[in-house]
Amino acid sequence: MRNYVIAGNWKMNKTPAETTALINEMKPLVAGAACDVVLCVPYVDIAAAIEAAKGSNIKIGAENVHFKANGAYTGEVSAEMLTACGVEYVVIGHSERRQYFGETDQTVNLRTLAALNAGLKAIVCVGETLEQRELGYTETLLKYQTKMVLTNVTAEQLKNVIIAYEPVWAIGTGVTATAEQADEGNGYVRAAVAEMFGAEAAENITVQYGGSMNPKNAEELLAKENVDGGLIGGASLKAEDFSIIVKAVK
Ligand code: 13P
Repeated sequence: MRNYVIAGNWKMNKTPAETTALINEMKPLVAGAACDVVLCVPYVDIAAAIEAAKGSNIKIGAENVHFKANGAYTGEVSAEMLTACGVEYVVIGHSERRQYFGETDQTVNLRTLAALNAGLKAIVCVGETLEQRELGYTETLLKYQTKMVLTNVTAEQLKNVIIAYEPVWAIGTGVTATAEQADEGNGYVRAAVAEMFGAEAAENITVQYGGSMNPKNAEELLAKENVDGGLIGGASLKAEDFSIIVKAVK
């Protein structure tokens, strides 16, 4: 049984007061959803988000996590700190982290292990750049990234992993992958999971698509066999747009 998950990634947007207002606006719009609904918010907004989401079907996530339990890592936040605040999900290895903050498949893997060991659900991102796609490396790269980020994850822990296929060229650009490209990319991810963990685990894992998903294209993307949800950037900052995407999961 595959679980559908629509997750918002707010990136570097919203103050705590704005968080409270937006979640209060979203709550009635996403009530009764046919999928899990998650909002991944900046660290400073977590307390406000958890308070505002109380009693609703919205779950709260962070946008990153460090791989050490504690220590001299200025500016970082550990998995235990997140669970202590009531956080249930965390985005790991977003392409913006890889592009601007030097994250690699190795650090993404370490962060994933730390999150899973602390009992968090990890939304782990993979995706090719336009250059890699044009050179014909999409399949090779997606399988390689998937295997790298899942190294040393146990079969039991895999149940708490969501993989988000986010083609880098489709993020924040307004250029969405076609439903066929999304299905194909997600299929490569699933194939890599099958090679590592077997067919049943691959069948059951949630693979999201992310990259300019919006109220207009969500239904077509989510109808695809391999697309089990979405990781939504820009459209998750607008209550109505986000709720339309949530309701596109039938
Ligand atoms: P956009 O939906 O704004 O393209 O962002 C996608 C994304 O990066 C979600 O993590």
